[in-house]
Amino acid sequence: MALDTESPVQSSAPLRLPPGPGVNLLLSVLRQKKWVDPIAHFTHLAAEFGDIAHYKLGRRHILFLNHPDYIREVFIVQHANFIKERTQQKAKLLLGEGMITANGPQHRQQRQSAAPAFHRQKMPAHAAEIVRRAAAVRDSWSAGEARDIHNEMMTLGLGIIGATIFRTDLGDEIHALNRAMADIMNVYNALVLLPGVRLLLHVPFTPLRRFVHARAKLHAAVEQLIAAHRRLGPDPSGTDLLTMLLDAQSENGWSDAHLRDQVVTVILAGYETTAIALTWTWYLLSQNPDAERTLHEELDRVLAGRLPTCDDLPRLRYAEMVIAESLRLYPPAWAMGRLSLNEFQLGDYRLPAGTTVLASQYILHRDPRFFPDPLCFRPERHTAESKASRAKGAYFPFGMGPRQCIGEAFAWMEGVLVLATLAQRWKLRHDPSHTVTPEPLFTLRPRGGIPMTVLSR
Ligand code: HEM
Repeated sequence: MALDTESPVQSSAPLRLPPGPGVNLLLSVLRQKKWVDPIAHFTHLAAEFGDIAHYKLGRRHILFLNHPDYIREVFIVQHANFIKERTQQKAKLLLGEGMITANGPQHRQQRQSAAPAFHRQKMPAHAAEIVRRAAAVRDSWSAGEARDIHNEMMTLGLGIIGATIFRTDLGDEIHALNRAMADIMNVYNALVLLPGVRLLLHVPFTPLRRFVHARAKLHAAVEQLIAAHRRLGPDPSGTDLLTMLLDAQSENGWSDAHLRDQVVTVILAGYETTAIALTWTWYLLSQNPDAERTLHEELDRVLAGRLPTCDDLPRLRYAEMVIAESLRLYPPAWAMGRLSLNEFQLGDYRLPAGTTVLASQYILHRDPRFFPDPLCFRPERHTAESKASRAKGAYFPFGMGPRQCIGEAFAWMEGVLVLATLAQRWKLRHDPSHTVTPEPLFTLRPRGGIPMTVLSR
C-alpha cells in the first residue's frame, strides 16, 4: 500500500469513510454487557478490514490503522493536525499535566526543558549506577528460589530511574511507590473506560477510591523525592532531570503540583515500560533455550565474567537483539491514539475533525506481512541487514514522529546492561502450571506477575 501524500486536501470535500463493522461499539458493549477486550477487538478489525477500519463509539468516529504507511502519515507527516487522544487525556487523572498528556506549546516547552537529561553524552554516567544496582539484585538471588520476576524488575527499575535521571536514592520509598503503582494499575482500565469517572472518584468504598489513595501515596513519595533532591542541592553538571525541572519551575512559575506531575510522568513512563520489557524478555528466554544459549555465549565471550560497562554495549549486539524481539512480541506501549483537530485526507478516505485515530504496536508487530512466522521468537530479525530491509514504520515500540519516546536511548542501555548483569550468573524458568496472560492496561503487563525459579547457569 502506498499513500499519495501530495494529494491536495479540500476542506469542502465530502466525507469518505473506510470500511468497518457497521455497528456502534458502545451499543454493542451495552447489549453484550461486557467490556471489549481491546486486543481481541483490534485483531478482529485487522482480520476483517485489513489496513484501515472505521467504526463509531457513541457519536465519535474511530479509525484503526493497520499499515505502516497510514500510521506514518498520521504520526509523522500530518502530525500537526493531531493531539493526544481523549482516553489518554483521562491519563491526566494519574499523570496530571506532564509531558505525556500535554499538547501544543506546553508540550514543546516541557520536552525542551527535559531534553538535556536524555542526551546521549549523559548515558555513560548512568551506566555504572544501572550495573551497580543490577549486580546487587544478582547477588541477592539464590539458586532454586522462586521470584516474581515482574516485581523484581519493577523494584530494580524504580531504583534505577530515581538514582540516574533524578539523582536521588528512593530508599524504602521504592516499596511504597511500587505498591501504589500496582493499586493504580488494578483500577486503571475501569478508570479509562467509565464515563463520568471523575464523579465516581468521590464515592466511598468503590475500587476507584483505592486509586485515589494510591495516587495520594504516589504523590507523597514523589514530593519526598523532590524535597530530598532540594536538600542535596543542584547537580554540579546541572543536567540531572530534577535540577532542570526545578530551574524550569522558577523560570516559568510552575506550581509545586505541576512540578510533581512532571516528575510522576517521567517516573511512570520510564520505569514501568522498561521493567515490563525486561519481564517479558526473561519469560521469552525461558521459552527459547537456543536463543538463551546464544546470549550466554555472547556474555561469556565479551565480558569473561566481569560486570558490563557502557563501553561494552556495542559488542553486546545479541543481547540488544533479544530485547528488540521481546519489544516486538510484547510491546509495553501496546497502542497509541490521537485526536484530529481538523478534517483530513488519508489515502482515498476523508475523515471529520474530532476523529480518534488508533494504531497498535501489538497488532502490527505480529502481522505476517512484515514479520514472517510472527509468533516465533527470533532475535535475528533485528540484525542491521534485516532492519534495513524491513518496511519503514512496521516496528515502532517507542512510537514515531515528534512525540517519539524521549527515553529510548536510556531504555536500550538499561535493558542491555540489566540483562547482561543478571544473565551472566542466572537463568530463570517459568512454572508451566501458571498461565501467563498479557493485560493491555496503560502498559502491557503480565496479569498477576510471572513467578519464575532462579537457576544457576
Ligand atoms: C522499553 C521502554 C520504553 C518504551 C517501550 C517506551 C515507549 C514509549 C512510547 C511508545 C511513547 C510515545 C507515546 C505516544 O506517542 O503516544 C513514549 C513517550 C515517552 N516516553 Fe517512553 N518508553 C520507554 C522508556 C522510557 C524511559 C526510560 C523514559 C524516561 C526515563 C521514557 C519517557 C517517555 C516520555 C517522557 C514520553 C513522552 C514524550 C512526548 O510526548 O514528547 N520512556 N514512550
